[in-house]
Amino acid sequence: MKILETKYMGLRLKNPIIVGSCGLTSTVEGIKKLAENGAAAVVLKSIFEEEIIKEHEQTFKNSLGEHENNLEFLDYFDYQIKNDVLKKTATLIEEVKKEVDIPIIGSLNCATSGEWISYAKQLERAGVDAIELNVFKLPFNIEQESDEQEKLYLSIIEKVKTHIKVPVAIKIAQYSSNLAAVIKKLDTAGVNAITLFNRFYNVDFDIMTDEVKAGSPYSSELDYYNTLRWISIMSGKVTTDLSASTGVHSAETAIKMIMAGATTVQMVSKIYKDGAESIAEVLKGIKDWMNKRKYVSIDEFRGSVHHEPNENAERFERVQFMKYFSDHKVD
Ligand SMILES: Cc1cc2nc3c(=O)[nH]c(=O)nc-3n(C[C@H](O)[C@H](O)[C@H](O)COP(=O)(O)O)c2cc1C
Repeated sequence: MKILETKYMGLRLKNPIIVGSCGLTSTVEGIKKLAENGAAAVVLKSIFEEEIIKEHEQTFKNSLGEHENNLEFLDYFDYQIKNDVLKKTATLIEEVKKEVDIPIIGSLNCATSGEWISYAKQLERAGVDAIELNVFKLPFNIEQESDEQEKLYLSIIEKVKTHIKVPVAIKIAQYSSNLAAVIKKLDTAGVNAITLFNRFYNVDFDIMTDEVKAGSPYSSELDYYNTLRWISIMSGKVTTDLSASTGVHSAETAIKMIMAGATTVQMVSKIYKDGAESIAEVLKGIKDWMNKRKYVSIDEFRGSVHHEPNENAERFERVQFMKYFSDHKVD
C-alpha cells in the first residue's frame, strides 16, 4: 500500500482516507474495525461542551441544596463534571492506542470561548496525535455583523495554537460572506489543516402533522460538488493541508478531491450506510485507478486539476445556469 502514503499535518498516514468525526469513532471496537478495513486515521466523536452542560443540568440542580448560592461550590461542580467527561475520552484514547497503530485525532466543540484551551490541553495530555476543532454555530442573529463568524474562528485558532503542541485542524462550515478570504486568513494564522466542510443537523417538517423533525443526518453520493469546488479554488492559494469532507462515497469521488488538491479525504455517511468494508473498497478503487493511470504516488496527481488562472478558473467560479447552459449541455 506504499503508493498511497500521505503526509497530513505532519503525520505519516498509510493512505489519504480518514474516518471523520461521528459515532463510529466513539468506541475502541468501532475504531478497531475501521483501522482493520484500512482507515489511515480517525477523528474521534466531538466532545461537545454544550452537551456536557445540558446533560448534567438536572444532576447539577439536584445537588445544589444548601450550596445554591455558593459560587465556589458551583465552580467546583462545573469543573468536576467536565473532568469526568474528559476522563472518559482520555480512557478511550489510552485504550484505543494499545489496539491500533493509526493516528487518533481528537475533536472539540466548545460553547464558551474560554474552554477551548483547557479542553484541547486535556486531549493533548491524553495522547491524541492531532486535534480538529469543530467550531461552527449557525449565524442566525440578525443583529450580528457578517464577520463575527470569521473573527470567532480566528480567535479560537490563535488561542489554541499558542498552547497546544500537536497539530491543530479546524473544521468549518460552507456558510460565510467570503469563504475564500476566511480560509486564507486561517491559513495565515498557522492552522495545520482545514476540513471542508462539516455537515449539520438538518430540520425537516411533516406536512400532515405540522411536526418539526430531524432531517437525514447522512449525505448522498451527489453531495460532494460544493466541497470539490472549494478544495479546487483554495488548494493552490493556501499552504495548509485541506481535508475533504461531505459526500465522499466512492473511490472516484475520493480521487477527484485529491486531484482538486485535498491532502486527505474524510468518510462518514458511506460507512454508516455500507459498513467499514467500504473504506477497503475505496482504497482498492484508488489503487486500481492509479495503476491504470500509471501513478506511483498520491503526490503525483494531487492538485492536478485545481483552480488556476486558466480555463479551469472560470469553471470553478461559475454559479449561474446562463442561456448557453440551459439545454443541459454543460460539459
Ligand atoms: C451520525 C453523525 C454524527 C456526526 N458527529 C459529528 C461530530 O461529533 N463532530 C463533527 O465534527 N462532525 C460530526 N459529523 C459530521 C461528519 O464528520 C462529516 O463531516 C459529515 O457527515 C459529512 O461527511 P459525509 O458526507 O462523509 O457523511 C457527524 C455526522 C454524522 C452522520
